[in-house]
Amino acid sequence: MKILIINGPNLNMLGAREKEIYGETTLADMNNDIANFAKEYGIETVFYQSNIEGELCGAIQQVKSTYGADGIVLNAGAYTHYSHAIGDALGSVKVPKVEVHISNVHARENFRHLSVLADNCNGVICGFGADSYKLACLAIKGILDRG
Ligand code: DQA
Repeated sequence: MKILIINGPNLNMLGAREKEIYGETTLADMNNDIANFAKEYGIETVFYQSNIEGELCGAIQQVKSTYGADGIVLNAGAYTHYSHAIGDALGSVKVPKVEVHISNVHARENFRHLSVLADNCNGVICGFGADSYKLACLAIKGILDRG
């Protein structure tokens, strides 16, 4: 079982960006932590990050062809709140998909309360830092295991 973990704009700045919200861990260290956790459950992980909307659509479309993955964990950053292109890309692939956020977007500014991606995902997990991604991996494993 393999899961593609996609991070969108500004998540490459983790560890440097608004540390009081997103913590001190870099994206590379967080990904390493998630990969080690997932491995314990027999889940292989592959990671992709881009600041560019079209590239994120491409990665989603290529979940099987390029990444050979069975599911997607996506933190689309601010695109979550307005990118119908990414929403459509999610709608075009038939694998389990979970939207995640490091912060609790519902406890923040109003514009962060809306997701235009969630309706094309199996579920949403937010507010648990790196654990949001780990929980999402387990959620996808549950869906795949149940068949
Ligand atoms: C975020 C929340 C978004 O609102 C924000 O634009 C981000 C990060 C999160 O992980 O908490 O870039 O997706």
